Amino acid sequence: MSDKANSCKVVLLGESGVGKTCIISRYVNNTYDEKSETTNGASYASKVIDLEQYKQSLRFDIWDTAGQEKYRSLTKFFYKDAAIAILVYDITRRDSFEEVRKYWYEQLKTCGEKNIVIGLAGNKCDMFDKEAVTEEEARSFANEIGAQFQLTSAFKNLGIEDLFRMVGCKYLDPNFQDKINDETKEEKKNITLENNTSQKKKKDKKWC
Ligand code: GTP
Repeated sequence: MSDKANSCKVVLLGESGVGKTCIISRYVNNTYDEKSETTNGASYASKVIDLEQYKQSLRFDIWDTAGQEKYRSLTKFFYKDAAIAILVYDITRRDSFEEVRKYWYEQLKTCGEKNIVIGLAGNKCDMFDKEAVTEEEARSFANEIGAQFQLTSAFKNLGIEDLFRMVGCKYLDPNFQDKINDETKEEKKNITLENNTSQKKKKDKKWC
């Protein structure tokens, strides 16, 4: 395992009350607060994990954002430079899934980094008897947007380690990194071509 951990910024997004703070507390401190208070603005935590298959450590700099509507304009600032975004919904609340589809994912596409790794977490899976969004439907949405899908329960500590491991692996996946590098090279090439064309136009203008 390499001594120095790569770091990457992770943001958790989703409606108020879906369990973003509880997922982070469970993941980072292995604690669970039944009376977790609503997040005002945002808060930060970090954790280093070893990803054996890539012989690398990765430090997650995790930003917990506020789900309440009044903070929505503020949340956008946390997308900047985020390498990983985890969209969270509550499996017992249909509205929280619809908002992930219609609002949070759309915001991420508009304000997030181009090659961001996306995770989709269906939280509170311990309350399966009150399920309002089927796993099948959520998986199908995850496939559609190229996200890693995981059912989680912060309460019972289910799926949380797997969720972070999955997005971490995708982030370090050499195929994914190659894709990003290829796209960056292509973008640079296009910018150079555009610059050359505009330079040429300027020169042509002078000769006229
Ligand atoms: P905001 O900070 O307002 O955006 O909410 P949040 O998404 O951070 O939700 P939070 O983590 O504060 O959890 C809201 C409530 O859901 C709390 O009362 C938690 O106890 C409860 N909760 C969180 N995760 C789970 C879970 O996995 N199962 C169950 N049954 N309850 C959960």
